[in-house]
Amino acid sequence: MSAELPYILVLYYSRSGATATMARQIAKGIESVPGIEARLRTAPPVSPVSEAVAPEIPEEGAVYVDHDDLRHASGLALGSPTRFGNMASPVKYFLDTTSGLWLNGAMVDKPACAFTSTASLHGGQETTLISMLLPLLHHGMVYAGIPYSETALLETRGGGTPYGPSHVAGPRSDRPVDDHERELCVAQGKRMARLGLALHAMREAE
Ligand SMILES: Cc1cc2nc3c(=O)[nH]c(=O)nc-3n(C[C@H](O)[C@H](O)[C@H](O)COP(=O)(O)O)c2cc1C
Repeated sequence: MSAELPYILVLYYSRSGATATMARQIAKGIESVPGIEARLRTAPPVSPVSEAVAPEIPEEGAVYVDHDDLRHASGLALGSPTRFGNMASPVKYFLDTTSGLWLNGAMVDKPACAFTSTASLHGGQETTLISMLLPLLHHGMVYAGIPYSETALLETRGGGTPYGPSHVAGPRSDRPVDDHERELCVAQGKRMARLGLALHAMREAE
């Protein structure tokens, strides 16, 4: 990864791997657009046990996010498993540490999207995606869903919504990301890359 190229931050939390798989597909879509890169980062878990300490570097997967990853990003793709129809607490917990970025307007006029995975087909994908949109709007970001020109949105029998990519993992978390779901992750990544470049150029011109 070169230091000069703009990048879209793909920030996710995933316990059993489904959201992480989606994150990699979104990154693939971003990287298919010349001139911009994907930066994959994860949010550390939170624990109700106040003494619990996580290792500084995760045992596997993407490294933990820090505020500079967000500050210097040209856009944010935010991923979370659905938890009771809402985002998982590690994602919300991290967002709740970003008031410094909010005060400085660091994320204003940058594109954002959200993605999620559920166990069940009607288990709250849309509510989760909308709940993730709210703090991003407070940050002044420009939310980008998926347009219906992506025909997989009409054809899917699993996940995939105009509010962002989604995946139905099944009750045992063993349903693979299907072709439509993958296609929509890649399409969202491409859209984020194009918008990231366009809005980056707009901000540079000001
Ligand atoms: C505390 C908790 C709450 C959950 N709530 C929902 C829910 O509201 N709807 C749903 O369909 N699945 C729910 N799930 C299942 C996860 O959303 C699902 O397994 C998801 O695919 C996990 O993503 P991951 O593999 O990235 O961790 C819940 C799981 C947990 C642990």
